[in-house]
Amino acid sequence: MTDAELMRAAAKAREMAYAPYSRFLVGAALLTKSGRVYTGCNIENAAYTPCNCAERTAFFKAVSEGEREFSALAVIGGRAGEAGEFTPPCGVCRQVIAEFCKKDFRILLGNETHFEAYTLDMLLPFSFTGENL
Ligand code: THU
Repeated sequence: MTDAELMRAAAKAREMAYAPYSRFLVGAALLTKSGRVYTGCNIENAAYTPCNCAERTAFFKAVSEGEREFSALAVIGGRAGEAGEFTPPCGVCRQVIAEFCKKDFRILLGNETHFEAYTLDMLLPFSFTGENL
């Protein structure tokens, strides 16, 4: 699975986004070390607080299927029909990623035309993890 293929999987997952309130559609694709891909979309709720981001949907699907080892995550988002800026994971999602992934875990952020690779350490430096407990 190439980075470009993982980005395409995220774009496909974005088509399933349920975001009637923000109309901000996000897709994520999570690659396991064993080569499987788990996708996710954002799922909103009229009560707002229960909204779930695409990244966490992908992680929770994977972890609930027994996966624990991950090598990369691709994320694409934006308002429907608008040329997208990159959509960096929110703080809550970064914390969830840090629960399962090391500092060098790769996070691909993209839009319709290109993507760039970051590491978890770049997006969440000086993080609080199980090693602090
Ligand atoms: N959202 C994500 O799914 N992932 C992100 O990285 C940022 C935000 C969702 C949450 C909400 O449904 C919508 O985008 C607007 O914040």
